Amino acid sequence: MENRRTGTQGPGQGKKRRIMTTYITTPIYYVNALPHLGHAYTTIVTDTYSRFRRLCGDNVRFQTGTDEHGEKIAQAAEAEGVTPREYADRISEEFRRTWPLLAVEPDHFIRTTDPVHVRTVQDILRRVHDQGDIYFSEYTGLYCQGCERFLTEKELVDGKCPDHLQPPREISEQNYFFRMSRYQEWLIDHIKENPEFITPERYRNEVLSFLGEPLEDLCISRPKARLTWGIPLPFDDNFVTYVWFDALINYLTGIGYPDDPDFSRYWKAAEHVIAKDILKPHAIYWPTMLKAMGLQPYRRLHVHGYWNVEETKMSKSIGNVVRPGELVERYGADTVRYFVLREMSFGLDASFSADAVTERRNSDLANDLGNLFARSLTMIGKYAGGKVPEPDHMILTGADRELIGAVEEMTARYQEYMNDFQFHRALREIWKIISMMNRFIVTNAPWELAKSPGHYSRLMTVLYFLAESLRFIALVLQPVMPAAAAKMAAALGLAGEMEAATLSTAGKWGMLRPGTVISQGEQLFPRLDKVKKVEPPRPQKQGGGKKKTPAPGEGLISFDQFGRIDLRVAEVTAAEKIVGSEKLLKLTVKAPEERTIVAGIAKHYAPEELVGRLVLIVANLQPARIMGVTSQGMVLAARDTDENGNEQLVLASVAARVGPGGKVS
Ligand code: MSP
Repeated sequence: MENRRTGTQGPGQGKKRRIMTTYITTPIYYVNALPHLGHAYTTIVTDTYSRFRRLCGDNVRFQTGTDEHGEKIAQAAEAEGVTPREYADRISEEFRRTWPLLAVEPDHFIRTTDPVHVRTVQDILRRVHDQGDIYFSEYTGLYCQGCERFLTEKELVDGKCPDHLQPPREISEQNYFFRMSRYQEWLIDHIKENPEFITPERYRNEVLSFLGEPLEDLCISRPKARLTWGIPLPFDDNFVTYVWFDALINYLTGIGYPDDPDFSRYWKAAEHVIAKDILKPHAIYWPTMLKAMGLQPYRRLHVHGYWNVEETKMSKSIGNVVRPGELVERYGADTVRYFVLREMSFGLDASFSADAVTERRNSDLANDLGNLFARSLTMIGKYAGGKVPEPDHMILTGADRELIGAVEEMTARYQEYMNDFQFHRALREIWKIISMMNRFIVTNAPWELAKSPGHYSRLMTVLYFLAESLRFIALVLQPVMPAAAAKMAAALGLAGEMEAATLSTAGKWGMLRPGTVISQGEQLFPRLDKVKKVEPPRPQKQGGGKKKTPAPGEGLISFDQFGRIDLRVAEVTAAEKIVGSEKLLKLTVKAPEERTIVAGIAKHYAPEELVGRLVLIVANLQPARIMGVTSQGMVLAARDTDENGNEQLVLASVAARVGPGGKVS
């Protein structure tokens, strides 16, 4: 069976597959900031996708790099008292050194200061100028330095750039312009004819709606009098090129445009990964520039949302910037990769917190996957002498067939989801199999089978299916958690083989050879303790000073400890959105006195459906200031996922009407 969307073969097929090509890129990051979680996410996604395409048997090229010209960088260098070049060298090196820590392995790291890039940008400028698509003119506009582009009035929110929260500067000067408007109609048609050109769909719609208005031409230069840190225009030495005309071209120069055979091999397969902040340059400037150069547009643009930290925008001034190096040190690369891919629905925003990482690590990785793995290998060690057992195919039960079918289906769905950048869904499919295997163990109770020699064949068959299913799991987890997958493969006696495996060679049943020695392997994911928050000292009750306050997260709690939590029924009397937050609602509740509580439920409940409801609250939490509102307690809700894998929060309540303020015990 050919997979309609990926053009790859389904699992378990013996047919030869045509070798496909993939060229996948990250944005090139500005060197005015050190790498953080946002950069890490895009780069992990791109690495995961490139590993996935390799697993499909593709010939893959993965490129990342740094964007080093422009005003922002010149200013940052000046602030440090070094030359822009010295400054760019240092920060670029920070990016280059960060990626291997996260098991990210690009094939090429490009810098816009590379001489070959500079030459190519100049060649392209000359050609596009010669054909009349670059002209000289005077322009007055609203320039956002954060975006390094002019904004339209419509894009502003309260007179400010919505991304950088700064009012743009009005700039009036003579510059060179790229005749982007000439290609507007062509671009609209191209987007309409190619539904996969910009995904997820919400961003495609956003671009089409922007293109509903006449497109202005693109300013591509800066006078040298104002900025020297750029690429000189080949046709006017008084100007350097504007950041986007320089930066976007990296995607071509990195593969040897125009003459290198790699260019003709990879360009037709180009896919870019970005966040929504740079949608316009990638979805509008870039395709029109390519059209003007006489090149075909890239194949797909994948756009993701923002990572916030504990519901707040990540920012240096707030001091909540998450650094990839620190994350790796605390959790290890595999856990970080798994967490970001599982937690964010590609395209939507997500929130990072240390507790959320620990939760995923302990529940999904240590409990579900780690325990299943350890448990299965221990049983193979104990009952099958530590070797892959010989199954008896004559006695397959319904449960065996169900497991085989489910693993095959998972592998097929996994491929579709990975191909569509639906990483959280692909992972959910894998975890469904992990749960199924845990049930398979309970239903078949190998420890019971082991009690009677008459069940020996059945016991070996059960253990064989466990080992084979684990091999599938290791195979499909390779792109996401390469180190854990390698450990799993090594324990299953497949160290070298797994690395060379593809989904079509290894995605079929029966690859494990009976008799292969299986080792216990090390624990895949040791459990982590939640990071203890530094709490302000609690006011001591009179006479109660002798009892020690338990540290949070120390496992079991006593009745006494539980008794200190003041759980109450509360009635919602008013609810409203908190401006500037997608997740938070401000609730006024009666419990029975009136109080304000900030609850992270805006994505799941509209304010109007809450008024009059009874909810459960923790009433004796220390007040906390959240987005300018003081929250006096916490609303309880249960977490779940819907059939699409999106997180759902369901408010906890009581089964019958209770007067507000009723104690919950
Ligand atoms: N230099 C330009 C890109 C030129 S590409 C031809 C640039 N650089 S940047 O350093 O600002 O990087 C922006 C990108 O970093 C985003 O598109 C995204 O990939 C990543 N992220 C930065 N902050 C982010 C979040 N808070 N969340 C998710 N990704 C974010 O723009």
